[in-house]
Amino acid sequence: MILVLNGPNLNMLGKREPHIYGNTTLEDLEELCEGWAVELGVGAVCRQSNFEGQLLEWVQHAQEEDFSGIVINPGALTHYSYALRDALSSQPLPVVEVHLSNVDSRESFRHVSVTAAVCKGKISGLGALGYKFAMEYLLEGR
Ligand code: DQA
Repeated sequence: MILVLNGPNLNMLGKREPHIYGNTTLEDLEELCEGWAVELGVGAVCRQSNFEGQLLEWVQHAQEEDFSGIVINPGALTHYSYALRDALSSQPLPVVEVHLSNVDSRESFRHVSVTAAVCKGKISGLGALGYKFAMEYLLEGR
């Protein structure tokens, strides 16, 4: 089972800056992830929160909840949350960071990720497909 986490403001997908994030809603994105997981022969549990502490708790308990890996789009927490970074680095499960938009082509504050260094890798700018590729990576060598 893969845990797919979306952070702050990602509940606004579809309404929020569609020229950047597209028209796909969070519900669509979660359905896509669940469908891709089925194709990959695994389950996916998708969760979103606007609250940093809630995301920390999901990350902290992912192993005891029997997940085998985490796909996370931390939203803006990417750029400054050392608390999330610490939670990710204490979690033994493999984690892939995903961004819908190409953060490196946007404002300079988005070029910094404090979380990516404690993840296996980062996928940015490929839209919803980034979540699929992240899941595929996590299932390699299963
Ligand atoms: C984002 C990029 C972040 O910079 C931004 O704060 C988000 C979404 C993305 O998916 O492109 O909320 O993580």
